[in-house]
Amino acid sequence: MTIATGKLRQLVSLERGEIDRSIFSDPEIFELEMTQIFGRSWLFLCHESQIPKKGDFFEAPIGRDNVLVVRQRDGGIKGLLNTCEHRGNAVCRAEEGNVKNFMCTYHGWTYDIAGKLVGVPGLDELYHNDLDLSRNGLREVAQLEVYKGFVFGTLDPQAPPLADFLGRTGRAGLEFLAGQGELEAVPGIQKFVIPCNWKFAVDNLFDWYHPQITHLSAFQTGLLPSPPDITGSKMKISGVAAPDGSELQMPGGVVSGDAGDQLVFIDAFGHAIAGPTVEAFGDFGGLIDHSWRDTPEARANLGPMSRRSIGHVNLFPTCWITPAFNQISMRVPRGPMETEIWWFTFVPKAATPEQRATIIQGAIHSFGPAGFLEQEDGENWAQSTMQTRGTASAKIPQLLQMNLRRGKVVHDSDGLDPPYIECSINEHGQLWTFASWVEWLTGCDWDELRERTTPPDVI
Ligand code: FES
Ligand code: FE
Repeated sequence: MTIATGKLRQLVSLERGEIDRSIFSDPEIFELEMTQIFGRSWLFLCHESQIPKKGDFFEAPIGRDNVLVVRQRDGGIKGLLNTCEHRGNAVCRAEEGNVKNFMCTYHGWTYDIAGKLVGVPGLDELYHNDLDLSRNGLREVAQLEVYKGFVFGTLDPQAPPLADFLGRTGRAGLEFLAGQGELEAVPGIQKFVIPCNWKFAVDNLFDWYHPQITHLSAFQTGLLPSPPDITGSKMKISGVAAPDGSELQMPGGVVSGDAGDQLVFIDAFGHAIAGPTVEAFGDFGGLIDHSWRDTPEARANLGPMSRRSIGHVNLFPTCWITPAFNQISMRVPRGPMETEIWWFTFVPKAATPEQRATIIQGAIHSFGPAGFLEQEDGENWAQSTMQTRGTASAKIPQLLQMNLRRGKVVHDSDGLDPPYIECSINEHGQLWTFASWVEWLTGCDWDELRERTTPPDVI
């Protein structure tokens, strides 16, 4: 399936800060995304700590393919497609576990943990030994690499090395987690479905404009802590009235309205980080430990601006790193209007039981199926997706115009900080993601894609 490049480019205007609503529900666009984005990009699969022993496996999606990430006898890791060579049935129904072999439940073909076909019922009597077992093993992903414990895979043999694909933005994002020391994934990945297009979920992670409205109840109920002294640091939102008619005010540690309080990093291939600085955000009522930012390792691996960022990171297309609660979320597209959300939570191995409990409690209460925030967000994403289907509504462009053409991109020279914009709350992260998204859909080669998604001087 192809859509002419000229037509694709009309879907997103970097100049006007507008995008065509159809991209959130058009099945043709969705199919193109499956091949041009999810069929090529490096995608996060799991963390090494989830598969420590020989035969340990974890199943993760790459687009509509299911991949078994399996620890091998020699300690290496393979990414095997979970589909039987015979009739295509899944050879493993569990989401994770430990196996000696994978046996298909349809006719019993059996594969070892390296994917080699080792057993076929009736091989002598029915196949007359004509079946070449060596040619019918499980297929592997084109490339699999590990970066600081995070396992990624791609279906594209031409994709650049993982560290190159991640760029400085992606590497900084993973450093926000890995910089805290050796990590382990908390057992039990939370998974649930929101009836929305995946791009609304991605757009929202850069959106520091919505918490004061969308998440008002989370703060009013006290479910999420406010900074200890909020009286002197409340943000006034002009033009918005609280229910009692007074000017609406929110704890300043959550959002900020001052120029320079927000940092946006944008990079090639569409990776971005957007969010407040450490100074503007604070420690979220004591929940967040920033001390790792001043360690020699952090200084060696992150530039001075990256070390100030508490922002949400999106590894294009769908891997959200949220450093506040040590989490990674994958937004897994299941259809144009259905997205499965996966949440991984990480704890430093050196954490005390109390620290571990604090991180897990913060994570569970914030995002995921029991998280206050994502339930509120999900309602908005579902409604926004629905409104892209109306005959009249679909014609209204989506707006990303905050601070438009005022975002000066600083190309840092120290080699550690990605290109960044320093400003107040903005929509640059979203706009850059959509501008890059179009280039991915055109199907250009990797060199061209890198060039076309290298940030300009102003957005
Ligand atoms: Fe797997 Fe037949 S489909 S053994
Ligand atoms: Fe939210």
